[in-house]
Amino acid sequence: MSEAAVLGFVVAGQMIPREGARMSVDLWTPGTTVSTGRLLLRPWEEGDVEDCWAAVHGDPEIGRWMPWAEDYTVETARDWCTVHAHANPRTSLNFAIVPQDRSGSAPVGGPAVGSIGLTRFAAMARVPTVEIGYWLAAPARGRGYMYEAVGALSVYAFETGAERVEILAASGNEASQRVALKCGFTREGTLRGAGRVTGGVVDLVVFGLLPGETP
Ligand SMILES: CC(C)(COP(=O)(O)OP(=O)(O)OC[C@H]1O[C@@H](n2cnc3c(N)ncnc32)[C@H](O)[C@@H]1OP(=O)(O)O)[C@@H](O)C(=O)NCCC(=O)NCCS
Repeated sequence: MSEAAVLGFVVAGQMIPREGARMSVDLWTPGTTVSTGRLLLRPWEEGDVEDCWAAVHGDPEIGRWMPWAEDYTVETARDWCTVHAHANPRTSLNFAIVPQDRSGSAPVGGPAVGSIGLTRFAAMARVPTVEIGYWLAAPARGRGYMYEAVGALSVYAFETGAERVEILAASGNEASQRVALKCGFTREGTLRGAGRVTGGVVDLVVFGLLPGETP
């Protein structure tokens, strides 16, 4: 995963190189950013409201798989960017996905083209488990951005104590399942009737990644 290599984590303005990330600080800190070869993953902010709304509103793919996208208004986007994305920082870290140039130096203020979040929760977890969820704006798909973002945040999750990372995809969501498989996750099984998409209840396919399996 050369393009997806994690350059490091920035916590409270301080760069922590990947090799140093096993230090005892709790890296699940509000304001954390993660840099990859092409992307900056940073907290959602007020300035993202229009881009977030434009990406989600009326997009058939997001609308099909994400029930919360129904009747998506600018106010819903504002609530997400300013409140909900930051509501539970100890159990849920949400990042805006911002393409940046290869040097990693600019443009930090570029538009957000998607979302990726880590949640410290898994229904059957007996070990520290993190679930990853995501979406991309239509023009940003087909470039491997989500492959790169999931790879980077899987590394981040393991570096900050996870012993297992999961992706749960609706049984018909082939684009999402391709991302999981490309990132080295194993298709482990199906939870029948466990998910809800806009059209109703669906089966969920469970993908799991263990330490040492990041590509
Ligand atoms: C799921 C979703 C994020 C996948 O987006 P995506 O663009 O297919 O995923 P990636 O960013 O990883 O891009 C992979 C594609 O880019 C292509 N690509 C181009 N350059 C690439 C590169 N440098 N590296 C990897 N892939 C690259 C790949 O060929 C691949 O296409 P393929 O799967 O048809 O072969 C997107 O479809 C989406 O937002 N869907 C709606 C929301 C949703 O369903 N979320 C998931 C809920 S579980």
